[in-house]
Amino acid sequence: MRASSVRPTGVERTFGEDEIIVSKTDDKGRITYANSVFLRVSAYHEDEVLGQPHSLIRHPDMPRTIFALLWETIQSGEEIFTYVNNLAADGAHYWVLAHITPSRTATGASGGYHSNRRSPGRGAVRDIDALYGRLLTEERKHSLPADAMSASRLVLDRELAALGKTYDEFVWSLIENDGMVTL
Ligand SMILES: Cc1cc2nc3c(=O)[nH]c(=O)nc-3n(C[C@H](O)[C@H](O)[C@H](O)COP(=O)(O)O)c2cc1C
Repeated sequence: MRASSVRPTGVERTFGEDEIIVSKTDDKGRITYANSVFLRVSAYHEDEVLGQPHSLIRHPDMPRTIFALLWETIQSGEEIFTYVNNLAADGAHYWVLAHITPSRTATGASGGYHSNRRSPGRGAVRDIDALYGRLLTEERKHSLPADAMSASRLVLDRELAALGKTYDEFVWSLIENDGMVTL
């Protein structure tokens, strides 16, 4: 089943503070590995996930601009910490704090990507849900995806400038406010 055909039920699923949702992808972002926590929380079977892009679990309320930032960052060889709301196969949603990194082979060549996801603190989810709502409202004013993305990036940049923080510093301030500094 593809994410586009899954209807969100509004039911939130959580997972243990000591659990890590892990997946790995090839260079194109196709999933090559998903651990048992990934499969349990997303309610997919392994054979439905392998070879698919992560947009399989894309939630319609996630702003495009966050994924654009994610890909820009990892394609330039950097890591990113970001909050993501995901959609499970049964329509439940689950928030994660994701740490996504490019993988390197022994020779230093690009070897796809890796994501470790932890259960985020409730305070962070409240703040990030509100921010993503503002980004999404902006995106929905535009019919062309590219216009939506650049308009909501402006909103994001303006909010970050008002806080005097980079995106990375902003995410870390949410992590630290929730007392979660060990990832
Ligand atoms: C390693 C890795 C992990 C990712 N994890 C997620 C995820 O958990 N949820 C998600 O919606 N997108 C995730 N993405 C981003 C997706 O590739 C994709 O950009 C996003 O789902 C938006 O899909 P769309 O561009 O088709 O709308 C991940 C990408 C990579 C490389």
